[in-house]
Amino acid sequence: MAAVGIHAVRKSFGDVRVLNAVDLDIEDGEFMTLVGPSGCGKSTLLRIIAGLEIQDAGSIAIDGAAIDDLRPSDRNLAMVFQSYALYPHLTVAQNIAVPLKMRSMNALERLPLVGRLSPSAGSKSADIDRRVQQVAKQLDIAHLLDRKPKQLSGGQRQRVAVGRAMVRQPNVFLMDEPLSNLDAKLRVHMRTEIADLHRTLGTTFIYVTHDQAEAMTMSTRIAVMMEGDLLQVAPPDEVYDNPSDVRVAEFIGSPKINIFPATADADGTVDCQGVPISLSVDATPGTALKIGIRPEKLAITGTGPGRLNGEIRHIENLGPDLLIHLRQGANDGIIARVPTASGHGHRVGEKVGLVFGLDDVLAFSADSGARLTARTARDAREQRHA
Ligand SMILES: Nc1ncnc2c1ncn2[C@@H]1O[C@H](COP(=O)(O)OP(=O)(O)OP(=O)(O)O)[C@@H](O)[C@H]1O
Ligand SMILES: [Mg+2]
Repeated sequence: MAAVGIHAVRKSFGDVRVLNAVDLDIEDGEFMTLVGPSGCGKSTLLRIIAGLEIQDAGSIAIDGAAIDDLRPSDRNLAMVFQSYALYPHLTVAQNIAVPLKMRSMNALERLPLVGRLSPSAGSKSADIDRRVQQVAKQLDIAHLLDRKPKQLSGGQRQRVAVGRAMVRQPNVFLMDEPLSNLDAKLRVHMRTEIADLHRTLGTTFIYVTHDQAEAMTMSTRIAVMMEGDLLQVAPPDEVYDNPSDVRVAEFIGSPKINIFPATADADGTVDCQGVPISLSVDATPGTALKIGIRPEKLAITGTGPGRLNGEIRHIENLGPDLLIHLRQGANDGIIARVPTASGHGHRVGEKVGLVFGLDDVLAFSADSGARLTARTARDAREQRHA
């Protein structure tokens, strides 16, 4: 087991800056997910941790000791790739055994014919067989050990790749989009398996994905990355409820958070397209804002003055909930998620009012994207008088 420290790591490919002084401390036994859109630098960071890529500046440490000078094979990390990278001509058992053979046998012993003649090869190979069996049993693939990779389903191949990472009992598992080759249903199932595996092994996992749902469901903490910067590092619910930046708010959560353009008013409240919202935002009057409200925090009522009014464009029935798609002002991508029982009377084309609790409003600077402190106008008044 091991804690991983990433300190001021920078990386460019030619003129393209990929990582801007990334700092991240991953605790021993943690399941840390790096999540962000395609091209933001997740795989590059993981490959630097593994030693497969060299950073331009900064340092990687395990349990406080820098590992920058260690070769990948000496770092005691195991990586599972998106492609699984299984050897097609080897059986499942042989694929899983590869890292052990690489480590325990000398070059001569690894040769199939010569190896058998070497005096110590027999006991080493019995140890390896035992370890492969143990791992296969743990991953429920013991019955597949004699097959070749092409005779396996996608999920089974994925488990073999995990098995190959497990046999060496690494300090840290590095996983780069290990589920992205699987169909949607299997992907959801394998999430649970990987989370279970993490719980059983208790080893540090660093997991890379561009799928926010994967990040939200498996991790102890997630690191949201964009354009080579870590925008927020926090437990999933914290990132969802308290995003530090509008880009985080928009990336995490499905359906996406609703964003309404607004302005900080001179009287210490918020003007949202002519509708006053009794919130006091920490911004100078006239500042352009983005107001974020999660779909499940938006409710629908009759139209009226002092409300954001919209029109229903489409209703999606998810069973327990309805996703009501609305046009409001120039924005036709607004979504309210309401319990089916309370929303079933609504019709496409209907004019409705949007209502929400002030506590559920997230305010951001339209300019920088940074989260702004917002208090209800009454709280703000009480605070001034206190
Ligand atoms: N060897 C390389 N040479 C040049 N550019 C590279 C190299 N590897 C990655 N890049 C560039 O660096 C950026 C980050 O790539 P990276 O693979 O880390 O992204 P990612 O976040 O893993 O994306 P994805 O979700 O698509 O896998 C991209 O713009 C990519 O084109
Ligand atoms: Mg990648």
